[in-house]
Amino acid sequence: MYPATVPTLVPPTQLTPVAAAAPHPLAVLGGDTRVRVADGRTLPYANLDVAATAPCAVAAADAVTRLLPTYASVHRGAGALSQQCTRAYEQARATVAGFVGCRPGDQVIFTRNSTDALNLMAHVVPAGTTVITFVGEHHANLLPWRRAVRLPLPRTPDEAVAAVERALRRPGPALVAVTATSNVTGEVWPVAEIARVAHQRGARVVVDAAQLAAHGPVDMAALGADYLVLSGHKLYAPFGAGVLAGRADWLDAAEPYLRGGGASRQVAADGAVRWADGPARHEAGTPNLVGVVALAAVCSAVTAGGWAHLARHERWLLERLDAGLSGIAGVHRLALFGPGHPRLGIAGFAVAGLDSAEVARRLADEHGIGVRDGLFCAHPLTRRLLADTPVTTATAVRASIGAGTTAEHVDRLVAGVADIAGRRRPASG
Ligand SMILES: Cc1ncc(COP(=O)(O)O)c(C=O)c1O
Repeated sequence: MYPATVPTLVPPTQLTPVAAAAPHPLAVLGGDTRVRVADGRTLPYANLDVAATAPCAVAAADAVTRLLPTYASVHRGAGALSQQCTRAYEQARATVAGFVGCRPGDQVIFTRNSTDALNLMAHVVPAGTTVITFVGEHHANLLPWRRAVRLPLPRTPDEAVAAVERALRRPGPALVAVTATSNVTGEVWPVAEIARVAHQRGARVVVDAAQLAAHGPVDMAALGADYLVLSGHKLYAPFGAGVLAGRADWLDAAEPYLRGGGASRQVAADGAVRWADGPARHEAGTPNLVGVVALAAVCSAVTAGGWAHLARHERWLLERLDAGLSGIAGVHRLALFGPGHPRLGIAGFAVAGLDSAEVARRLADEHGIGVRDGLFCAHPLTRRLLADTPVTTATAVRASIGAGTTAEHVDRLVAGVADIAGRRRPASG
């Protein structure tokens, strides 16, 4: 559902990094964006919907600006620029492989986003493999698995591990598909422990790192991930690239995900095709050079700067957000594993007596704040978490933070929610 009125965007005088003195290395564009709110004031836009799509990193924009004058075909031309662009594309693949901690022999396939990467994963799973996942996954890690064993939502991380272990007692090959960090609650899932029991039973694991990758290091070996997916636009590189990284054997054995030029080595007049091995097998068509160069630039920037500053900045803001929301009567938080469980920069909540669309609209219209409302493409999880609260609203609000978020944004959100909750009609929900 969209707000009835859309706040007017006030064109920024110029696009600048969020602040020269930002306390972390990942400067982003758009920090000076202002929006006009209902009473006619203009306010700095508080983007608290970073979990949906992050703002563009300066590093990504700079890399694209540098690339564009020499933009040319990839894997398709003998000219100097084509060769240069092919090198840039393959260099980006190597950078991303390093960023996610690929092991020797692993492949990095560029996709459109995490959804595309998980659909590719579903496409390459060998016939006869049992896919095991949880019913509370994001739809991107739920709907591609047509015949999966869908485990009920666990109450504790230990329950999650035990449920996977039990499900793996059935004979035959298996793949466990699990999200590293919930996009509804920000809670961190026990991926390494799940991978340990999966590997003990000879199963493989695909990790949905769409949220995790924007908040901390992703190391496939440490996570125990045989495969890992992420989205560039959630990692401050909004140019339409995503990633599936992981073991080569299933990828090389599968039919190409897309059929066409680039994936085919030789095509005979009778239609017989010899398909390419390696990443090209699943990347038919002209690839998204701009997207992967932008993504690699962010991976390099974060790797060079380290996660520590950004993680500290986000933790500090999250504590501020949690403290603020917990002090507001009628605000109920969504959590699967409980309040003490480690979380990354996401807070899901509902306000008693108020439809979440109304809360989000008023935050936008009256306070210049962008949040998400609804069921966050994780309908079973969000409905179940809402059922655990005393509210009767059907949907929830989500605030999420990242590079570019300031304490003022968080404080404005808390004040806005308190204001909106304080003016709700007392009789309802
Ligand atoms: C945990 C998780 N997985 C997968 C996705 C899908 O990502 P994309 O929309 O980039 O394909 C999202 C998007 O919100 C997500 O939060």
